Order: sequence, then C-alpha cells, then structure tokens
Amino acid sequence: MKQALRGALLTFAADPYHTEFAESVVYSKDALVVMEEGRFTAVGPATEGLAALAADVPVRELPADHLMLPGFIDAHVHYPQMEIIAAHGKQLIDWLNNYTFIAEQGFADKAHADRVAQLFLQEQLRHGVTSSCVFCTVFPESVDALFEAAQPLGMRLMAGKVCMDRNAPAGLLDTAQRAYDESAELIARWHGRERFEYVLTPRFAPTSSEAQLELVGALAAEHPDLLIQSHISENLREVAWVKQLFPWAKSYAEVYAKYGLLRPRAIYGHGIHLDEAELDLFHETGASLAHCPTSNFFLGSGYLNVRYAKEPRRPVPVGLATDLGAGTSFSMLQTMNEAYKAAHLNGSDLPAQHAFYLATRGSAEALGVADKIGSVAPGYEADLTVMNLRSTPLIDFRMDFAKDLDEQLFIQMIMGDERAIAATYVAGRCVKEWA
Ligand code: GUN
Ligand code: ZN
Repeated sequence: MKQALRGALLTFAADPYHTEFAESVVYSKDALVVMEEGRFTAVGPATEGLAALAADVPVRELPADHLMLPGFIDAHVHYPQMEIIAAHGKQLIDWLNNYTFIAEQGFADKAHADRVAQLFLQEQLRHGVTSSCVFCTVFPESVDALFEAAQPLGMRLMAGKVCMDRNAPAGLLDTAQRAYDESAELIARWHGRERFEYVLTPRFAPTSSEAQLELVGALAAEHPDLLIQSHISENLREVAWVKQLFPWAKSYAEVYAKYGLLRPRAIYGHGIHLDEAELDLFHETGASLAHCPTSNFFLGSGYLNVRYAKEPRRPVPVGLATDLGAGTSFSMLQTMNEAYKAAHLNGSDLPAQHAFYLATRGSAEALGVADKIGSVAPGYEADLTVMNLRSTPLIDFRMDFAKDLDEQLFIQMIMGDERAIAATYVAGRCVKEWA
C-alpha cells in the first residue's frame, strides 16, 4: 500500500564528522515521505510532494513538535543477556563468569530462547530500533529463535551463533569443527532470507582456541561478503589475558588479523584500548568499531574516543550500540547521552548531529548496509522512527527555551528515552502504533 507521512524530517546524506553539516545533515521542517512496497519512493518538500501525489494516497500528518528520523540501528547487542541487564558489581571477566555464561546456558532450551527473542524485538521496536546486529548464544537454536521471531515483523536483522570453545563452562562450549559446521548450516538456513544476514560470531579471542579462529577464518574466506562480529580491547585485564594466550601476537588486533577476521564488514565491540598501530590495522583492513558507552561505563571498562578512531588520516568507521546486557538501556537516545559523556571525558565533544548520525547512518556504514538502511531517501528500505520532541513534562518545559534545532536535538539525546518514540515503521509498516 502506498502511503505518506508529512512533517519535520532529519536524515544524513554523508558522515558529518568528515563532511560539512550543510552537505551531510538533511533537515526539512515540512517534508513528505512516500512509502510503497517496503521502500521510500519519494522524499522532499511537502508542497511539491503533495502536488505530485495521487489524491487517493493516504497522508498522515505528524503532530506539532514531532520529527521523522531513520529507524535507529543498534550495531552490537546480545539478546540472550536481556535477563541479566543490571547485574551488580563486577567488571568484564567476572561479569562474564558470574552472570553471562550462566544466563546463556539457558538458551539450550528453545522455548526459553523463543520467549526472550520475541520480548527482545518488541522492546527494540518500542525504542525505535528497527535493525540491529545481534549476538545469539553458542546454541544454533538460539539463532533460529531470533530469526523466527523477526519473520512476522519484517525487520532487517543481522545475527549469528556465538563460537566459543574454551575458557567458559563446558555447557556453553562448542568445538572448532562444530563452530564451523553449525555456522555453515545457519548460513544455509538464514543468510539472504527475508531481510536477514548471518553474521560470523567468534565471541572474542580468549574464548576461541587458535584452531577455532582458524576454522572461523576459513569460513569467512569462503564467504567474503559476510558480516563478522566480535569484541576487542574492552577491558585492560582482557587485553593482558590476550597477550598471555597469544604470545606471538604484537597486539590484540593482530590476533584477529592473522585469521582473516579483520576486513570490510567485520565489526568489533568496544576497541577502547586499541593503540595507534591497531587503529591503522582496522583502517587498512576496512574493519569497524561499535561504540557501546552505556556498557563501558556500567562495567567500568573505560570510554572510546570516537573522534580519534575516526581521525581523517586513517578513519575507522564507528557505529553506535547498546551492548545489552552489559549495556543498560535499549534506548539509542540514552546511548547517545552516555556517548556524550564519553566524548567529554576524552576532552572531545559530541554535537547532536554527530550523535544522531552515529545511531542511524553511522551504524549502517559500520555494518556495510548503508546502501539499504539508515537514511530516509528514495530507494532505501522504509524503516523510520517518529520522535515526539515534548515527550515528558520536563522535556516539554525545557523545549520552550531551546533556541534552535541543535538545542532541540541535544535535549532529546540527553533527556529522551522510549517515551520520545511516538511511532516506528518497519519496511513501511507501522509496528509501534502512534502514541
Ligand atoms: N566480551 C566477550 N563477551 C562479551 C559480552 O558478552 N559482553 C561484553 N560486554 N563483552 C564481552
Ligand atoms: Zn558485546
């Protein structure tokens, strides 16, 4: 069904870190966005758009102080960790052992995985997240559960089975060969079906033997366009552990590079403690980073310097991510809020235009899907979020004093949460009904 939305629109035509705002930030006070068969077919000034639109096409007008945006894209998130959000007291390695590796064992039970997968996707849509790159667990059934739950929703979803064959409880381990075989089976079952992509998912270097990294690398080489996701350089104890486990490697990044796991469409969570040579290696190989500030603050890991990672002389693409359940919120607005504080602690800054870019087109670029999602423009898949810019009494009051669009957007990213998500569209279908 052809339909249109009319109102204010914010989207990005390029990376505002590297391109003047005038060319990268697209804002229109009164835009018409036309959607048909899951795609945007026309986007432009409302007066022109309405003149060209057949009279029988339904047009929904946004209420005052609402804003259309591309659907948010969470570049790194663990759905099985939904039940351990807010687990108290431990940094990364103890948090993994005491909470994560216990919760993930529960996903051997398909019925449990089904239930959590459905709740997870519903929660994402309530928060205006229309697409994400997701870690499942070591159990292939946990991948089936997530893709099956996404089928009726029509989301573009990237996900994979975690590969891990050491340094975790026996019940959560595969083997090098099983990781290869099960990942290959899941590629055959899910990759390219509907809007799904399979993602090769070695958990991180400490939980994979070299034999496993080698076989995952071999599978990656057989599928050069496939996404790869993992973790790198999140916590200093983890970095020291990797040095011990891989004494031959000059750096953490070199471990992944050796096995062919740094390349375009390979996205690594965190990267907080990467050195210059490692960032060079990311740049040269085309790999990217997922910035997970709520997680990094929660686990006391540190804070990524996004501007430094994106240095124009050797830019590394960066997406924004919740990293639930170490992350503490499904909200990409709250994730921007924490990203702002991380930027400050780095002596840097995060203008609202940069933050909203990172949560939409930036994540799409880091995942290599920026030709399909992350922008509201003709030809793109019609994933869109409508924000209410006055979603709480306090925000409503504060907005009265906002001088310009920059301030209005900044207020949203600091004070906003899911209450600011008025509606969510996936492939042109309203999946979170208008509030
Ligand atoms: N490193 C390896 N596994 C994980 C995980 O599940 N969460 C986080 N935050 N870091 C990891
Ligand atoms: Zn993670």
